[in-house]
Formats: sequence, C-alpha cells, structure tokens
Amino acid sequence: MSEESSYIFGHFGDDFKWGAATASYQIEGAWNIDGKGQSIWDTFAHTKGKISDGSNGDVAADSYNKYEEDIQLLKDIGVSHYRFSFSWPRILPNGTEEGGLNKKGIEFYRKFLKSVVDNGLVPVATLYHWDLPQVLQDKGGWISQDIVNHFVNYARICFREFGDIVKFWITFNEPTVFTFLGYGVGTHAPGIKDPLNSPFKGGHNVIKAHALTYKLYNDEFRKDNQGIVGITLNSDWYEPKDSNSDKDKRAADLGMQCKLGWFANPIFGDGDYPQAMKVRARSVSAMLGFPGSFLPQFTPKEIELNKGSADFFGLNYYTSRYVSTCQDFSEPVTEAKVIGIEQHSDPSWKQGESEWLKSVPWGLRKLVKWIHSNYNAPDIYITENGFSDKPGIIEDTDRCDYLKEHLQELLKAKTEDGVNLKGYFVWSLIDNFEWNVGYLERFGIYHVDFEDPARKRTAKKSATVFSEIVKNNGFTR
Ligand code: NOJ
Repeated sequence: MSEESSYIFGHFGDDFKWGAATASYQIEGAWNIDGKGQSIWDTFAHTKGKISDGSNGDVAADSYNKYEEDIQLLKDIGVSHYRFSFSWPRILPNGTEEGGLNKKGIEFYRKFLKSVVDNGLVPVATLYHWDLPQVLQDKGGWISQDIVNHFVNYARICFREFGDIVKFWITFNEPTVFTFLGYGVGTHAPGIKDPLNSPFKGGHNVIKAHALTYKLYNDEFRKDNQGIVGITLNSDWYEPKDSNSDKDKRAADLGMQCKLGWFANPIFGDGDYPQAMKVRARSVSAMLGFPGSFLPQFTPKEIELNKGSADFFGLNYYTSRYVSTCQDFSEPVTEAKVIGIEQHSDPSWKQGESEWLKSVPWGLRKLVKWIHSNYNAPDIYITENGFSDKPGIIEDTDRCDYLKEHLQELLKAKTEDGVNLKGYFVWSLIDNFEWNVGYLERFGIYHVDFEDPARKRTAKKSATVFSEIVKNNGFTR
C-alpha cells in the first residue's frame, strides 16, 4: 500500500514565500489584560475536564509580552512572512463595535505589526482562528444568523485599523474543524454536541460571512490597500483503500467532496455545495428521520457571491487516510461516519504525538494536484504543515524528516505537476496551547518552557533544518 518516492533537487522559484504560523489563543496569553473580553476558548479551558492536562491559554507562550522575541526567531530562521491571528475579543470585548472598541487591543496589534514590518517581515493576518467572543456565543455563536453581520463588521474594523499595514488576509482558519469539533462532537469550544445539524448550519454562516467579507474588501478597501484576501481550509488526502475497487474510489471521492469540497466548492468551485455532498446529506437525513436535509441551501444570489470569493487558496495539511465505505452510525458519531467513509492507515506511516497525525508526504502532493485540477488552478499557499511530538524534545528528528519529506513532495508538485504553489508556512513557530490537549502535544520548531515564568524559547533541530531549506529556497546538491 505504500507509495514510492524519489528525492529531487531544485528550488521553489523567486516569488515563493516562506513563513511560520501561530494563532492568538494558542500563544498570546494575557487573556484578561488591557480590556480584552472573554473568548469561548477562555470559557472552555476554564471548565474542568475539557482540556486533557487541565491547562489553559491564560499565559500560553506569553507572546502578548514577548512578540519581539518571536519576531527575532522569525528573522533567525530567515523567513519573510509571519502568519498570526487577531483575537476578536481583544479588539471587540463585547463582540461588536456598539459594545465598545478596545483601544488598548488596537494599540497592541498596531505596535506588534509595526515591529513585524520594521523587522522586514510581511504580516499575514487570520481574522478568525477560533477565539469567538463569549458574548456572541451566548447569542448562539456560529449557529445564529446574526453572526454573519457581526463577523463582517469585525472584519471591517480590522481592515480599517490595520489595512494600511496588512496586505495579506485570511478570513477563517479551518472551518470544518471549528464547526465540527466545536458544534458537532463538542471536544472544542464551545463544546456543543450535535453532529448532524449544527456544524452544517454553522458552516453555512461561515461561508456567507466569508463571501460578504471578500465583497466588503473589494467594495471598500481594495483600491486603497491593494491587498489579497483568502481563506484557509484543511483536508486530509483520501486515497482509496483498494485502488482497484470502484467502491473505495467512490468513498475516497466522497471524502474529498464532503471534507474539502464542503467549503472549497462554494468558494473556489461553482458557488454551491458539491453535488455528492448534497446527495449524501439527503440520504443520511432520510435514514435518520431528519426532515429535508441537514445541509442548508444557498439562494442563487448567495451562490453568485460565494463563487470566486478568494484571491488564493490557503491549505493546511497534516495527514492522509486510506478509505472505504461505511454505513455505521453507532456512537460516537464522527465526521467520517456522517460522510460515510471508514478510514484506515498504514502501519509504516510515522505516528505523531497527536493520535490523528501520521506522516504521509505523498498525500500532500496528491491533494494540491486535486485542488489544482478541481478548482481552476488557484494560487495555493500552504498556510500550515507540521508534526507533533512530546514536550521537551529539542533533537526533533521526526519533525525534521516530516518537514523535509513534505517539502520534497511540494517541490515535485510545483516543478513537475505545475501546481501554482506560492508559499509555505510551517506550523508552528513556537510550542503552544494545542486546544483540547493543552501542552501535551508540541508542534513548535522552537521549544517553549511552560514551567518557566519567562517562557524561554530554544531552537529545536528542526529550526535549523527548516531554515536551511528556506535559505536555499528548496533543496540543493
Ligand atoms: C490546525 C490548527 O489551525 C492549529 O491551530 C493547530 O494547532 C494545528 N492544526 C495542529 O493541530
């Protein structure tokens, strides 16, 4: 079942962008400092039993106070771009401008951005990396219609306050994850368990909010600010378990359509959900006695607005699966069961510390090729890719291998398959709060000592290995 792969030399081209990524709740800390409002992750992590190690992001890597050090680390590895996220409740503690703009929050991000650009780096801002203001969750969060306008208004404030500096925008990070884990299985904030209905309702609002934000940028900001706006989607690559079985091939395609296509098809395809997903949603709804379909419908006007509403495709990739069909709906209901696929892995795949993460570099090449041919060859930025290990490992050989092998496959995708790959951001610059597992799984190329009040950062071996690839813009002899 394993695939052969060869080693190639070459570079990614002069306009290729290298960066590292982080997210506000995972690194900033300062959860209640300088007027910041509470986010759903503050609430969730403060609730007993929700985070495996009982920890939270109250201090995290303390990047609120140590961002200058982080910026120095970026310079040390030689990347040109820093992907970070704005904390919505730091800017709008009550979720909306009517509820009050937090001047200190704006000041903090302007100070931070100034330092980024003064150090010759390009900021890449994610507007939503999961830390919704709690007050908006109290009104229904992503399930409520009102969230669409709230998000667009928040985006307007960010474009207005930071648009002179930020030219590279990502509306949402991994909507399948925060809708499904947050509102479906409940392992992420806000912890709602409703696998068949809420994730898709929430996802519908996310797509509308994204498309309207794109329109807003075009209508009010693009001319003056000259930036680009996209979205970051994540997907595993789904490979048929038996490449000779039509059933497995159909299952793999259904997996791709329902996982990546759920958000990609409306935005990068024909403006609507994939046909295969609509069919699947209707049959699951009928099977379970759900009236109509749990998948909402777009109006023709919305479809028009969705279509083409991104200047680039942000892709987060971590792992792949072999798939076959599955008609099992026993508890716990997982995303795979809703889609109707069973997932398998190969014992030879290197296992990360995260249960779901196995290293499958060739899956990344297939995935970007699939995006290239299914969605009209968009510009693709790998906005995250990385490997988890246990706390405390500095000689992180597994992560070094993971990064090299994945970049090898990307180089082939770019130079041999003609995929429009424009950049690569490693996840993550520094160790951070890994959501419901707290600090038990580490993704940083820099170690952070969370026992140390100073949160000392130390380069891991992977920082050196990655920076060598960045310096060579690829792989040299
Ligand atoms: C994707 C998410 O965007 C990021 O926040 C998370 O830490 C990594 N995956 C690793 O799970």
